[in-house]
Amino acid sequence: MAGRLSQSKTKFSIMQNGQILRNLCLLVATCSMAAVVLGACNVCQTNNVKCLNETHYEYCATNVEAGQVQACPDDQVCTEFAAFCMPSGATPACQNSEADGTCETCDGTNLFVCTSRTTFQMCSGTNLTGTPSTCKANTVCSIRSGKFCVDSCEVTGSLECDRSA
Ligand SMILES: *[C@@H]1O[C@H](CO)[C@@H](O)[C@H](O)[C@H]1NC(C)=O
Ligand SMILES: *[C@@H]1O[C@H](CO)[C@@H](O)[C@H](O)[C@H]1NC(C)=O
Repeated sequence: MAGRLSQSKTKFSIMQNGQILRNLCLLVATCSMAAVVLGACNVCQTNNVKCLNETHYEYCATNVEAGQVQACPDDQVCTEFAAFCMPSGATPACQNSEADGTCETCDGTNLFVCTSRTTFQMCSGTNLTGTPSTCKANTVCSIRSGKFCVDSCEVTGSLECDRSA
C-alpha cells in the first residue's frame, strides 16, 4: 500500500518535470535556441549581431545594411552578450573551429548527410546525388535522429553540420 503510494508520487513528479522541461524548451525555442545553447556562427543573436567567427561580426539590426564585416578590438571576442565584443576570457558565440564546421561526407556506408545546418542530401556511394533538401523553419538537420530534421530543442550536443546553407 505504502509502496504503491510512493510509486505514484514518483510518477507524478517525473511528469511534472517533463512538463516544466517542455515549457522551458518552448520558451527558449522561440528565441533562436541555436544561438544561445549551441553557440552558433552566422546566426543573428538577441544582441543584434551575428558572430562570423571568434573575432569578426556583422550587425543584423533591421536598418543596418547587411554584409559589413566588423572586427572586435584586439584581444576581444564576439559573444552573445549585450556588449558583444568582450575580453578574450569570455565564451565566444562562434568558435573558430566551427566557423566552417566539418560535416560528414558520403563514405559509402551512409545514405544521407547533412550538408549544412538546415539542408541534407542523399548519397550514392561516396558521391552526393540529387539536390539538397531543406529543413522546415526552426528545425535543423539531424540524420542521426532518423527524421532528417529536428526541432532545435531536440538537439543535444553539437550540430551534425554547423555551416550555413
Ligand atoms: C574571421 O572572419 C573574418 C571575416 O570573414 C576574416 O577576415 C578573418 O580572417 C576570420 N578569422 C579567422 C581566425 O578565421
Ligand atoms: C562518383 O563520382 C565519380 C566522379 O564523378 C564517378 O567516377 C563515380 O563513378 C561516382 N560513383 C558513384 C558510386 O556514383
